[in-house]
Amino acid sequence: MTNSNTIAFIGGGNMARSLIGGLIQDGTAPEQIWVSDRNAEQLQALQQRFGIHTSSDNLTAAAEADVLVLAVKPQVLHSVASELQALVQQRQPLVISVAAGIREQDLNRWLGGNVAIVRCMPNTPALIQTGASGLYANAQVSASQRDQAESILRAVGIALWLEHEAQMDAVTALSGSGPAYFFLFMEAMQNAAQALGLSADQAKLLTLQTALGASKMALESEEDCAVLRQRVTSPGGTTERALNSFEHDDLRASVQRALNAACERSRELADQLGQAGDA
Ligand SMILES: NC(=O)c1ccc[n+]([C@@H]2O[C@H](COP(=O)([O-])OP(=O)(O)OC[C@H]3O[C@@H](n4cnc5c(N)ncnc54)[C@H](OP(=O)(O)O)[C@@H]3O)[C@@H](O)[C@H]2O)c1
Repeated sequence: MTNSNTIAFIGGGNMARSLIGGLIQDGTAPEQIWVSDRNAEQLQALQQRFGIHTSSDNLTAAAEADVLVLAVKPQVLHSVASELQALVQQRQPLVISVAAGIREQDLNRWLGGNVAIVRCMPNTPALIQTGASGLYANAQVSASQRDQAESILRAVGIALWLEHEAQMDAVTALSGSGPAYFFLFMEAMQNAAQALGLSADQAKLLTLQTALGASKMALESEEDCAVLRQRVTSPGGTTERALNSFEHDDLRASVQRALNAACERSRELADQLGQAGDA
C-alpha cells in the first residue's frame, strides 16, 4: 500500500501481526501504522519487530485512523465497537473487520450506523502469507476504500470480493474452515501409508509434498481439477482403483454434507454473536 493513510489495528494478535507484516513488506511505512492491544508484551513485541506506533488504549490508536482494522475476537467486538462508536461517527474511517461471524449490519449498528464497513473472512494460512479471504463491502464503502481494503488483505494472500454478504457463510465453510479439512485428509493419508509399511517421517513428507504439488499444479493450470484428475488416471491403473474406492464410499456426498454443516453453523454463530448488547 503506497498511499499515506493511517491504519490502526484494534487487537494486536495473530491476524493483526500477519496483516501488519504483509503491509510493511508491501511498502507501507511503519509510521502509518498504529496498533492497540490490552496485552503490553504483545505490543512491545510488535513495536520491536515492526517499528510501528503502539498504545494500550484503543481510542489513542484509532484517533488519526483513516482505516480501522478490527482484529479482536468476535466475542469482544461488541464492546470494542461501543468504545469506538463516537470516534468512528466523528472521523468516518473505513472500518475493516476480520472477526469471523459478525455481520456487517450488526457491526454497523454497534458503531452507530452509516459506517463504511468491509467485512473479511481470512483463514489461518494468512499467518504465513498464503491466506484466502472473502471480502464484502457495504454500500457506504467508496471505490478507493474498496481498493484499500483489498490491498490490506492481499498482503496476506488472495482476496475475493463477494456480492452478497450471505455468501460469507459459504466462504467460511470453504476456505475459512477448509485448512482443517485438508489437515484431516493428509492425516488420513499418512496413517494409511504407515499401515502400508512406510515410516511416519516418510509418510508425512510424501503426503505434504504431494498436497503441495497437486495444489500448485491446479493453481498453475488452466484446466479444472476434474480434467487434471482424469489426466493422471490411467485406465486399469492404481489411481483409478483408489478413485473408484472413494466414489464407492460417496466421498463427494460426504464433502457436501460437511460443508453444508459448516455453513449452517456459520449462520447460527452470526445470529448468536449479532445479539450481543441487545436487551
Ligand atoms: N487467526 C486466524 O487464523 C483467523 C482466521 C480468520 C479470522 N480470524 C479473526 O481475526 C480476529 C483476531 O483473531 P486472532 O487469531 O488474531 O486472535 P488473537 O491472537 O487472540 O488476537 C486478538 C488480540 O486482541 C486483544 N484484545 C482483546 N480484547 C481487546 C480489547 N478490548 N481491545 C484491544 N485488544 C483486545 C487480545 O488480547 P488478549 O489475548 O489479552 O485477549 C489479543 O491480543 C478474530 O475475530 C478472528 O475471528 C482469525
